[in-house]
Amino acid sequence: MNQFNGKTVIITGAAGHLGHATAHAFAAQGAKLALVSRDPVALKSLLQDLGAMADAAIFPTDLLQPQAVSAMVDQVSDHFGQIHVLANLAGGFTMGPPLHETSDADWDKMMDLNARTLFHCVRATVPRLLEFGGGRIITIAARAATKGSGHMAPYCASKAAVITLTESLADELKHQGITVNCILPGTLDTPINRAAMPDQDHANWVALDAVADVILFLASDAARSITGAAIPVYGRS
Ligand SMILES: NC(=O)c1ccc[n+]([C@@H]2O[C@H](COP(=O)([O-])OP(=O)(O)OC[C@H]3O[C@@H](n4cnc5c(N)ncnc54)[C@H](OP(=O)(O)O)[C@@H]3O)[C@@H](O)[C@H]2O)c1
Repeated sequence: MNQFNGKTVIITGAAGHLGHATAHAFAAQGAKLALVSRDPVALKSLLQDLGAMADAAIFPTDLLQPQAVSAMVDQVSDHFGQIHVLANLAGGFTMGPPLHETSDADWDKMMDLNARTLFHCVRATVPRLLEFGGGRIITIAARAATKGSGHMAPYCASKAAVITLTESLADELKHQGITVNCILPGTLDTPINRAAMPDQDHANWVALDAVADVILFLASDAARSITGAAIPVYGRS
């Protein structure tokens, strides 16, 4: 079943691990894909990978530059017409020193990467969704957003911000046909995580296509009555 036939999906962080899996999952269901990350080479490689499977185009954009984000949304709209779904996957993680030794630069890096990128995307995209009468926004926080951990304070706080931004948006948009939901992945089964944690049981981690399935569910008609949710996707970890 091509349940996203004719639907345009913006995927930020498309060149990343989860981005690849999500792009393939939406492509398999007939979606038109606007693939967004900074690195054009990585985006071109994803586009090649998708091949004839999808009507896709790349929009290399630094999501920390508000004017560039607005221009990207305009270009997506010019290219594909109506925008139906924003899947905001861009984000990332670094361990750090204890909070009392954390620099402003390290604090800003996590807040920018996880919270500000979302803020910029939403600010540029929501007016388009409202103009078209509705849509779906899916955000990615993390299990680490639910409880602080040592040497991860800026990351935990930035992902907690993603949850509260999601809840606030959902509240603001609930009467306007836009649902906004957040996924909290546990450790994803990526090559980088395998290299960093070779001794862990990788079978307990979350498969990328399993998270992509939840993203597609939240973007689907079946999830039309769900908004403001923060959904744990922890696998067996
Ligand atoms: N990996 C895990 O175990 C795990 C666990 C919980 C939650 N998560 C979350 O899940 C999401 C995807 O994770 P992942 O492992 O797939 O990450 P990833 O492979 O590092 O991909 C992150 C993507 O975000 C893009 N990005 C970062 N900053 C950007 C910016 N300023 N403008 C535009 N694009 C930007 C990166 O592309 P460019 O560098 O080309 O811009 C990259 O494509 C992230 O939000 C992450 O925090 C991951």
